[in-house]
Amino acid sequence: MTSNPRILFKKRPNAHELPVVGEHIVIDSSTTIDLDRVPLTGGFLTKTLILSPEPAMRERMRDPSVTSYTTTYKLGAPITGFGVVVVLRSEKEGVTVGDYMYGLTVWEAYTVQPYIDSRVNFKPEEWAPGTFDMDSLALQVVPNPNGNYSLTKYASILGTPGLTAFVGFEGIIKGKEGETIFVSSGASAVGSMVIQLAKLKGLKVIASAGSDTKVEYMRGLGTDFPFNYKKESYGSFLAKHGPINSFWDNVGGEALDAALEALLPLSCIAICGTSSTDILPPSEHYRLKNAHLIMKKRITIRGFIVPELIPQFIGKFFADIPALLVEGKLKSEEFVIDGIENGPKTFIDMLKSGHEVAGKLVIVVAKE
Ligand SMILES: NC(=O)c1ccc[n+]([C@@H]2O[C@H](COP(=O)([O-])OP(=O)(O)OC[C@H]3O[C@@H](n4cnc5c(N)ncnc54)[C@H](OP(=O)(O)O)[C@@H]3O)[C@@H](O)[C@H]2O)c1
Repeated sequence: MTSNPRILFKKRPNAHELPVVGEHIVIDSSTTIDLDRVPLTGGFLTKTLILSPEPAMRERMRDPSVTSYTTTYKLGAPITGFGVVVVLRSEKEGVTVGDYMYGLTVWEAYTVQPYIDSRVNFKPEEWAPGTFDMDSLALQVVPNPNGNYSLTKYASILGTPGLTAFVGFEGIIKGKEGETIFVSSGASAVGSMVIQLAKLKGLKVIASAGSDTKVEYMRGLGTDFPFNYKKESYGSFLAKHGPINSFWDNVGGEALDAALEALLPLSCIAICGTSSTDILPPSEHYRLKNAHLIMKKRITIRGFIVPELIPQFIGKFFADIPALLVEGKLKSEEFVIDGIENGPKTFIDMLKSGHEVAGKLVIVVAKE
């Protein structure tokens, strides 16, 4: 028997508090698995290599009575999230021993996978708030890096952060050479990819982040005007370096308000995230002062969640992005934490505002 540690969802955090290690999410090292004999019942057995802590996982910890864009985690069950696994045994057609797969998986060392078919059946047009099951984002076989790039890239630029940036940029921002875009939380995994896609298209990029280290990281990605929003206000910086043709928003609040002022007529906003208000009760949310400019400037605002745009763009994503990565035209930085036992703490670190890490936090569970 082999030890099969997993991360359990033990208690729901209150709506506006950070989860606590040991109280809300815990590591359970008591389980074992027989890797040679565990029944597969038509599925396949995987070994977890990489896990990717992401903000949407906090949303899944909410009370099930609260409507949102995902289903909720079950108490007492292991949590699920995006990761990379390698196939150890398979009874499933199309899944071969040694395949690398990326998608939603159980946060445990080894898993008998039941999820393979559901993503194919996911129909974004049928999605309604609260009914979309995140578990439908099943594992997909992905290209073997063959030593050209690290598997950790599947938690950043080749995973949901990269996909989010790609589908939102292609589907909403579009962007033309010579235009100016503002990206909030530009050092986040999503933001850093948006910056690079914009530079590849010849846009001028203004981007914000919460530390000087992150400002330098954004500069290294080609950002023309990076700034620390804790040292200079969004409004004052955009007044100096705007106006802007588009705004990629990861944070909401004051950044959104300042962008409304700096945006040109007939411009657009892609609302990707709301990090500045995610853990605050609505009564403490920043109130927009510039909402009246939406009509006056005829601004298009589009909120999106990545699964709705994936079917349209995933082919182009895997055709273009791994090659650009290998050619060195796209970069991503990962901050690696070793060991599934560090999963709960790493997840909470990811949620904290202004952590010093530039790039994507990645948990390496096993090195194959
Ligand atoms: N729509 C979708 O389908 C989709 C998919 C994936 C992610 N997202 C969203 O995209 C955003 C980035 O995700 P990610 O995975 O790339 O995140 P990430 O790499 O973990 O970075 C998150 C960053 O958000 C910033 N932040 C946190 N609290 C903040 C606050 N109060 N004010 C301003 N900034 C704050 C922090 O950076 P600073 O130090 O710079 O403050 C933090 O490092 C998140 O809002 C996430 O929810 C959306």
